[in-house]
Amino acid sequence: MITKHNISSLFEFVKKQKKSNILRIDLINKSFVLSQHSKTNHILIDKNGVNFNCKIEKKINEIAQILLPILMIKKKFYIGQIGQSLDGKIALLNGNSHYINDKNSISYLHSLRSVCDAVIVGVNTIKKDNPLLTTRAIKGSNPQRIIIDPSLKLTNNYQIFKDGFSNIIFTHSNIKKNLKNTQIYKLPERNFTNLIYKHINNLGFKFVLVEGGSKTISKFLENKLLDIMQFIIAPTIIGSGINSINIKPITNLKKVIRTKNKIYKFGEEIIVSLEF
Ligand SMILES: NC(=O)c1ccc[n+]([C@@H]2O[C@H](COP(=O)([O-])OP(=O)(O)OC[C@H]3O[C@@H](n4cnc5c(N)ncnc54)[C@H](OP(=O)(O)O)[C@@H]3O)[C@@H](O)[C@H]2O)c1
Repeated sequence: MITKHNISSLFEFVKKQKKSNILRIDLINKSFVLSQHSKTNHILIDKNGVNFNCKIEKKINEIAQILLPILMIKKKFYIGQIGQSLDGKIALLNGNSHYINDKNSISYLHSLRSVCDAVIVGVNTIKKDNPLLTTRAIKGSNPQRIIIDPSLKLTNNYQIFKDGFSNIIFTHSNIKKNLKNTQIYKLPERNFTNLIYKHINNLGFKFVLVEGGSKTISKFLENKLLDIMQFIIAPTIIGSGINSINIKPITNLKKVIRTKNKIYKFGEEIIVSLEF
């Protein structure tokens, strides 16, 4: 049986395999092994989805259908995610965003975190949400937290400095601060996003989640640094609030971002996954 307790071992197993178009895996005594033959307790992954010939929880199946083909094909990636309403809002004008998406989609977000080595958020997300950025809804490992805080505004009051796990902060400020369990990297202001990207690669992180908020995602999108961008869309209309994406205006509709995409029905919500 595949549940939230062992799905992350399957993710890890698939990540370790060579790039391929199809993977056949057997589940034997709670371990995953490569297989050449169809058997019971068999899992077949191709670029379109996963065929489970073993028992799997419904919610975990929906998550696996999206993530396993990506992990099979891409051996490193930057993936952006944003949870939004139908009209593209990620929070109310007063900043309240709890919760735009339903519980199911929160499990999906935690699964995304669990398959990534690192998770990036902007300073405003830490200040507004005070998140832990862990994988509580799924039994997986926690990604390295990376925060972009150009003016080094954060203080030790936030949860990320209190739970004993480590943080990385990118800044271009000269201020000297002692933030608990935190390595601070100072980079030049010019070309900041690209320099952050290079630095994260040099640190050896291969699977990176750009989790938000809007300004952080938009910078990575604008600089063409994302391999995949996923919109997790709740069937709601908020009407006014913070837009999910804010990039420089274009003057010609031929210049819109349009790329290969997949659309998944995910419980009551929809996931639109763009591949660049
Ligand atoms: N729905 C979701 O999926 C989701 C996910 C995460 C967060 N959120 C929500 O999003 C809201 C916050 O979003 P936000 O857009 O205001 O803030 P944000 O993206 O969390 O943080 C933006 C700030 O981080 C710094 N920053 C981030 N990337 C940068 C870059 N590449 N270059 C330079 N500076 C960079 C800048 O700080 P300075 O201004 O100090 O220069 C910028 O103003 C919150 O309400 C939160 O709840 C929603």
